[in-house]
Amino acid sequence: MSKNKLILKAIKMRSKAFAPYSKYKVGAAVLTDSGEIFGGCNIENSSYSLTCCAERVALFKAYSEGFRTIKALSVSTENSGMPCGACRQVIWDLCGDIPIYICDGKKFVSESSSRALLPLPFDNTKL
Ligand code: THU
Repeated sequence: MSKNKLILKAIKMRSKAFAPYSKYKVGAAVLTDSGEIFGGCNIENSSYSLTCCAERVALFKAYSEGFRTIKALSVSTENSGMPCGACRQVIWDLCGDIPIYICDGKKFVSESSSRALLPLPFDNTKL
């Protein structure tokens, strides 16, 4: 049931996207071990590279509220796009291997995992 709520939250968060430059709206949501759900959306910037992706906004919201164990993440785009490379690194670092639910603008489309999206990762075990 949390999976369905997580998916619906990511889809809903797309409507909050601030994407005046690309017009590509992204919503995301993360589920904590205690059942809280935090949503995020992409927030673009006129200096394009300062844009923050929806996945990172959702994750940082959870982390900044003190939640450290993330159980799953969902992402919604118009055309079931996958998380970008930068987000894959951040997801791996902050969540480890978790399920990632990919959605289009209306429904769940496919399931992946942070391990599958970032094989042979760099992480704190190397530091
Ligand atoms: N974007 C995300 O929010 N998440 C991703 O994983 C891929 C890209 C955003 C960034 C930018 O605002 C827009 O989508 C187009 O790249």
